[in-house]
Amino acid sequence: MIKICFVCLGNICRSPMAEFIMKEKIKKNNLQDKFIIESKGTSYEEEGNDIYPNVKRLLAEKNISYTRRCATTLVEEDYEKYDYFIGMDQNNIRNMKYLFNNDPNNKIYRLLDFTSLKKDVEDPWYTRNFEKVYEEINIGCDKLLETLLSNN
Ligand code: 4NP
Repeated sequence: MIKICFVCLGNICRSPMAEFIMKEKIKKNNLQDKFIIESKGTSYEEEGNDIYPNVKRLLAEKNISYTRRCATTLVEEDYEKYDYFIGMDQNNIRNMKYLFNNDPNNKIYRLLDFTSLKKDVEDPWYTRNFEKVYEEINIGCDKLLETLLSNN
């Protein structure tokens, strides 16, 4: 079982979007018994809140199913619970390395480093460009899945 945790700041926009996009890909490839996919945030600011409405709308538009959820904050004990922590931007990576004692088991990666883009998924809370976030996360998840399947 490969356990992946997608990580952003608030856990209401980018990382839940990545969680449900990835779950859809896992389902399409009949790999449900091989993966556990979850998401968390590095900040407690949005803790308990559901997915941001613009993200829900976008997922529905793309025919990606999602469930009601509560934003959750990443804690130190999470390090042992997952194989991969996939951050959306460089700040997420820095915050995770701080929380996880500099990542002794090399579990932390930035999503778009699996693609040729090698950049941050910018925070749509500020850019308001949810479509761009979707396109980038979609490509990132394709490449991440490809990489994991060829490594395992
Ligand atoms: P996310 O977006 O990190 O993609 O979930 C944000 C959501 C909320 C806030 C920041 C980013 N906030 O400051 O409340």
